[in-house]
Amino acid sequence: MIINAEKIIFASNNMENMQGKHILVGVTGGIAAYKTAYLIRSLVKQGAEVRVVMTEMAKQFITPLTLATLSKNPIAVDFFDPENGQWNSHVSLGIWSDCYVIAPATANSIAKMANGVADNLLLTTYLSAKCPVVVAPAMDLDMYRHEATQKNLQLLRDRGVTIVEAEDGELASGLVGKGRMAEPETIAEAIGDIFKKSPRMEGKTVMVTAGPTYEKMDPVRFIGNYSSGKMGYAICEELAARGAKVILVSGPVKVKARHKNIRVIPVESAHEMYEACVANFPLADAAIMTAAVADYTPATKADQKIKRVGDMTLELKPTEDIAAAMGTMKTAKQLLVGFALETNDEEANAAKKLQKKNLDFIVLNSLNDKGAGFGVDTNKITIFESNGRHTAYELKSKVDVAADIVDKLEEYL
Ligand code: CTP
Repeated sequence: MIINAEKIIFASNNMENMQGKHILVGVTGGIAAYKTAYLIRSLVKQGAEVRVVMTEMAKQFITPLTLATLSKNPIAVDFFDPENGQWNSHVSLGIWSDCYVIAPATANSIAKMANGVADNLLLTTYLSAKCPVVVAPAMDLDMYRHEATQKNLQLLRDRGVTIVEAEDGELASGLVGKGRMAEPETIAEAIGDIFKKSPRMEGKTVMVTAGPTYEKMDPVRFIGNYSSGKMGYAICEELAARGAKVILVSGPVKVKARHKNIRVIPVESAHEMYEACVANFPLADAAIMTAAVADYTPATKADQKIKRVGDMTLELKPTEDIAAAMGTMKTAKQLLVGFALETNDEEANAAKKLQKKNLDFIVLNSLNDKGAGFGVDTNKITIFESNGRHTAYELKSKVDVAADIVDKLEEYL
């Protein structure tokens, strides 16, 4: 396997979160320990201060010298240094850490962590650490799926440990299945998420609509639009990283939701999206309507493929206005955010939609701004609030725009 260390880069807003953070990396004895070298290198590059604690067995898989060089700090293995008698305090290591990530974590170490065994420095540090803990398991597929391992992982999860699931692939044994340690960039993202967690978002549920809708004409054709869903999905990732539960009602898109806190409800037509939103909005504290919903749908849908017979007129009927329906359903405790994609009279149209759909704020993007709109990875927005305030933002990546929108939502929560 080839790991491109340069690929292990956070989205820019994750990078800020990593600056100056104290990250303790625990390494146990598994072949995946070589990937931990890339993880450490990446964390140092993001500006974190990294220290490493290893088990005796881990030294068989990667040398302390390699990890000391990459982390720029001496490695702790024993409770004391046999050479000079210097004491390695698990308590002070635990206090020092803003995050403790154990990667790779063997079945043996996971079992010990679940049961409070404290027979090495890595484990005593786990028991005394007060910071968030991230565990990246790595083992053979049968060990990974064994009920004992799964129960131990669940025990850790229940205690608030973040488990970065093992991945499918070829294993050191030659077998193929689930057990490979997650890639360094996935583990790094899980650490970044921890620093993004926001008390205002944790425990909140946000419904998001994203993507286009497809309005069927016959079994093989539809009316659609060019929406890629990228903006809506970036908002979902941002909300989930900050600790919210996300219900994503998504039209047909190529992008995928990655975060485990995002539950995707796939829909195709505006009517399906409407039904999913009506059913799920009562469960949410807020809804962000980013979908490019078709305003019209064919009045009748042919059961069989429509034949070519010269000129043709297609009769359309309006779809439900989903955002407006949510505006009517909205309770005093709920928030509703809309989007407006305009080509002309941008501000006036956005203000009209804000009022008509009973939104708390509306995010305007104009197709006249270069780099804004469908398909591209950037966006330029202005937020209009129902209290009359408005804020214009610079052209940014959709990931950074998502952070601005979620920041604004947090002001209201
Ligand atoms: N929206 C919706 N359901 C619709 C149409 C729009 O939920 N049938 C939502 C969009 O997700 C967006 C907001 O309403 O948050 C504004 O969408 P937009 O297409 O800009 O406005 P429309 O109300 O469709 O008005 P028009 O197309 O005439 O500009």
